[in-house]
Amino acid sequence: MREYHIASIPGDGIGPEVISAGLEVLDAVMARSGEFKLAIEHYDWGSARYRKTGEFIPAGGLEQLKQSDAIYFGAVGAADIPDHISLWGLRLPICQGFDQYANIRPARILPGVTSPLRNVEAGQLDWLIVRENSEGEYAGHGGRAHRGMLEEVATETAIFTRRGVERIMRFAFEQARSRPRKHLTVVTKSNAQRYGLVLWDEVAALVARDFPDVTWDKELVDAMTTRMVRSPASIDTVVATNLHADILSDLAAALAGSLGIAPTGNVDPERRFPSMFEPIHGSAFDLIGKGIANPVASFWTASLMLEHLGEPHAAALLMRAIEQVCGEGVVTPDLGGKATTKEVVRAVCEAIGNA
Ligand code: IPM
Ligand code: MG
Repeated sequence: MREYHIASIPGDGIGPEVISAGLEVLDAVMARSGEFKLAIEHYDWGSARYRKTGEFIPAGGLEQLKQSDAIYFGAVGAADIPDHISLWGLRLPICQGFDQYANIRPARILPGVTSPLRNVEAGQLDWLIVRENSEGEYAGHGGRAHRGMLEEVATETAIFTRRGVERIMRFAFEQARSRPRKHLTVVTKSNAQRYGLVLWDEVAALVARDFPDVTWDKELVDAMTTRMVRSPASIDTVVATNLHADILSDLAAALAGSLGIAPTGNVDPERRFPSMFEPIHGSAFDLIGKGIANPVASFWTASLMLEHLGEPHAAALLMRAIEQVCGEGVVTPDLGGKATTKEVVRAVCEAIGNA
């Protein structure tokens, strides 16, 4: 039997609720498939540990984490800790330490879910956003000088390297090629940002030559927001810089119905390191402990993880179960339903068992 080691890092906020929901559903998938086993290792990394020890990740932690085949991550962030401390304390050291340079963010309208866009049918909004996940505006380059003085200066440098841009473009063209539409939109801002983003455009055009079977176009990021709203069907696969894709993927999640269903994978395509899968929604303080957090994002995330591990049948089984249950209207309040997290888990487990 195939066996995979999964590091589970539920983290903060509603992370523990949705990750434990996801692990239950993964158990059901394992039982139904009978072909593979997931060995789960539990990590208590998060804000509680930081308050106690001053660290999100204990010494030697990344070395240990590296032994796993994939990471199943909940959320990080707490009301009493500045967001940039928690982000750079936990999530970014994993993304950057494991060179998870490709962030994938699928968005589509699931059955039973209503898009805020009028007259858009499910099939007309089916996107895959590829986010550059290692450099750009999140490279961590910059600094502050003359702190607290009138002369204080702060810089935040966006880093674009030929190697970094080329590898994300190749990945994005490959993703586009694997989807039926075979179309990629390269998002840019090279009209205003004349160095990094002009390099971005040039490398995109070079890489495109190696993918003659993929059609592609270019869109300025501001115009892209309009296009997403006004002609969603013209879009299939999208590649954008770290910050641009951060913003566009929230818009994509909202247009697809809810941030509560949006999944993501921080992927090392070369598989030198484990990749990390997480729901996009984050800690969601207002929902903690209420039992109504939408677990669908963490299920969809689990399906992406199974796909990455090389279990496409199990991934598809889970996705079909999610779609069935959403279609039957067993959904949490963020999607207009009345179900609790537990009720959604039960319904999805049943759908998996009956598949
Ligand atoms: C995301 C989130 C993070 C990001 C936050 C929590 C720092 O918004 O995954 O999209 O900006 O990368
Ligand atoms: Mg974001």
